[in-house]
Amino acid sequence: MANELIEHAIEILRKNDQGTYTVPTHGLYPFQWNWDSALTALGMGYYDEDRAWVELTTLMDHQWEDGMVPHIIFHKEDEGYFPGPDVWRTGRSLPTSGITQPPVSGFAVRRLYERATDKAKAAEQARPLLAKIDAWHDWFYRCRDPHGSGLVALIHPWESGRDNSVDWDIAFERVPTDGVEPFQRRDLQHADASHRPTQAQYERYIYLVQLFRSLNWDNSKLHDASPFQIVDPGFNGILIRSCADLADLAEKLGHPEIAARNRARAEAGVAAMEALWSEADSQYLCFDRKAGVMIKNASIAGLLAVFAPIPKNRAEQIGARLMDMGKQAKYLVPSQPVGSDLYDGKRYWRGPVWLIVNFMISNGLARAGQSDVVDRIVSDSLSLIEKGGFAEYYDPMTGEPCGGKTFTWTAAMVIEFLSNADREAA
Ligand code: DGY
Repeated sequence: MANELIEHAIEILRKNDQGTYTVPTHGLYPFQWNWDSALTALGMGYYDEDRAWVELTTLMDHQWEDGMVPHIIFHKEDEGYFPGPDVWRTGRSLPTSGITQPPVSGFAVRRLYERATDKAKAAEQARPLLAKIDAWHDWFYRCRDPHGSGLVALIHPWESGRDNSVDWDIAFERVPTDGVEPFQRRDLQHADASHRPTQAQYERYIYLVQLFRSLNWDNSKLHDASPFQIVDPGFNGILIRSCADLADLAEKLGHPEIAARNRARAEAGVAAMEALWSEADSQYLCFDRKAGVMIKNASIAGLLAVFAPIPKNRAEQIGARLMDMGKQAKYLVPSQPVGSDLYDGKRYWRGPVWLIVNFMISNGLARAGQSDVVDRIVSDSLSLIEKGGFAEYYDPMTGEPCGGKTFTWTAAMVIEFLSNADREAA
């Protein structure tokens, strides 16, 4: 069965492979997405190491001069997606969006190197990426933590990847919709409307794009100008892990300055994360930087933080919370707790299970020695695939596959789970 699943996963990766980058799925997402690409490279690494390095290299080739790595790279024209380059208008010769996404690249580059069969060749492929990822990390702390708190803020829900999370509901009320140019959504041609964000949310997404565009995408202005500034523990956890892993790899490859800078960022980040811990919820919570208040919603963001090298006692508390959640949810890990007021098991990030998050949570828990909960997450993830195929996300109670079909990063994560690499490392 494992071999069959891996074969099927590879087939999906190949089908979505465009030669130098991979689309998340044809139709719904016809370009290169940032964190999709970095996680996809991990799955590719099992059957074609060279192609995996190309995936990461293509992504980093589109880094902006200020260090930002955009969330979408519009390699080809495609009328089937909104908002396209004509809405973003970022002025790049090969069009990109103007916001970023969770930086899993430091983690991915280290993992690809660690697993490489030919280390000398992998070192050559990794080396040019180190400085670029370092510059991206620098951009994060310079432009998204301009007041030096040690934690970065998102200025658009799309940056988190968790577009319509319950976490944003209250802060999103502050985002107006006046002046939003009329638009036609394209996502609803490819996916069920009841699985997607609402029209009211889309209007606010576009308001923010228009606001940033009116500031010429100048990242020295965007953070302070945005009515939406959220410190997300999951996003910061990924950034911290990317810094820590980049530091380890840079050390190994003889770049002590990159290593020292990233080690310092990771340490400062871990210390600052403590301010987001909620003892009552036994997990981290988001902080609304604009309003200066904690967001009292115990979503998956505060569990995903375990991907970072947080203190052992925090990882144990998160492990225990997950075991508890597993008594209610048939499949771990729901993006919003099953039974909570605003839970919706089919609507994107308001309940469904995502395999990429399951992978990152279980990777962090494995490092912290939490093998029982890792076993449960891996087994739930594989059951979802066996039952529903390689979907974008799944209902945590029924297991129904939702969103896009034949999804690249879901396939890549299945290969990761079946390879058992984390449990060997733990
Ligand atoms: C979308 O278009 O649904 C994406 O999540 C934005 O990146």
